[in-house]
Amino acid sequence: MIQLVDLKKQYKTIKKDVDAAIRGVVNNTDFIMGEDLRQFEKEFAQFCTSKFAVGVDSGTGALELALHALGIKQGDEVIVPCFTFYATASAVASVGAKPVFVDVDDETGNMDPEGLEKAVTPKTKAIIPVHLFGQPVDMSKIVSFAKRHNLYLIEDTAQSHGAKYKMENVGWKTAGSVGIMGCFSFYPGKNLGAYGDGGAIITNSEEIADKLKLLRDYGRTAKYEHSILGFNRRLDTIQAAILRVKLKKLAKWNAARRKNADLYDKLLSQIGVRTIKISPFTEPVRHVYAIRVPNRDALAEHLKKNGVATGVHYPIPLHLQKSFADLGYKKGDFPVAEKMAEEILSLPMYPELKESEIKKIAGHIKQFYKK
Ligand SMILES: Cc1ncc(COP(=O)(O)O)c(C=O)c1O
Repeated sequence: MIQLVDLKKQYKTIKKDVDAAIRGVVNNTDFIMGEDLRQFEKEFAQFCTSKFAVGVDSGTGALELALHALGIKQGDEVIVPCFTFYATASAVASVGAKPVFVDVDDETGNMDPEGLEKAVTPKTKAIIPVHLFGQPVDMSKIVSFAKRHNLYLIEDTAQSHGAKYKMENVGWKTAGSVGIMGCFSFYPGKNLGAYGDGGAIITNSEEIADKLKLLRDYGRTAKYEHSILGFNRRLDTIQAAILRVKLKKLAKWNAARRKNADLYDKLLSQIGVRTIKISPFTEPVRHVYAIRVPNRDALAEHLKKNGVATGVHYPIPLHLQKSFADLGYKKGDFPVAEKMAEEILSLPMYPELKESEIKKIAGHIKQFYKK
């Protein structure tokens, strides 16, 4: 079976270093807030061309703490795309604020800047664009929108470690480094994945970085002294040690993903399959390789029978999720996302995926539509 994501293949290539990193932490028993965490934060901030990085327990934790750090609370509204992973919006709801959804672009699946103006109300405090599938959103437009309305801009970079975008009059920037904060997930299947849950927030503001460090550790200033209401949302030292090993390979892995995606693009365009469009102002990191097809579920079944695993990111847009029913959205509100949810299919994508495997997958897709 060709897996959707094959972490075992990756582990084999880094086993010696990962095992040594884990052993190092165990030998030192500095499991909580240890030296590897401090070092990883420095290295990750540098990788993202940001001044500070704060390790946290997950991407969800990163988003929640970012909102807490800005004082976003009940009565506030935050604009989010309706086509993303659940946590982008649940983080907003979890601090008591209201997620306000906007539709996405039909070519890329990313937040559509066209829909933003009508989502703004006097209660709007922030906007969270998501760099979906590893491709940055149209940041020039979103930054100018946020400035015009005096909104905080938090980037959901959970799927885009190391992606780049070109901004008008600014040049190339690394994903997460333009907004007031960038929120990363190190969920195992991500481009930079831990061996368990993990996340980080990057920021150029020392004041915010200091606040995040308090928030993730019970608001603690000294043993048993708590200056603000905080949480337990720390990144384990073992995870940081593993992430340090993997960070060294990330640029190479991202390049391998791009090469794989380019081959898919080429082969699939020859057989008329619709792929996600890559905008010229981005350098994506191809976290998820998605296509848009009629008869999606039948194609997935055909691929499964032929030894190819697939996924659906995402089958239900967030405005139609039961848990957000009280927000009052209905089917038809965001037609682009709703159509995408019916047609989208993710194909195997990871750095170690072989050219011959991609050719085989494209061949099975061709065979399916020939019938
Ligand atoms: C866009 C997006 N935001 C947030 C998250 C949440 O990250 P985590 O699973 O680490 O909590 C994810 C990860 O699945 C994601 O893809």
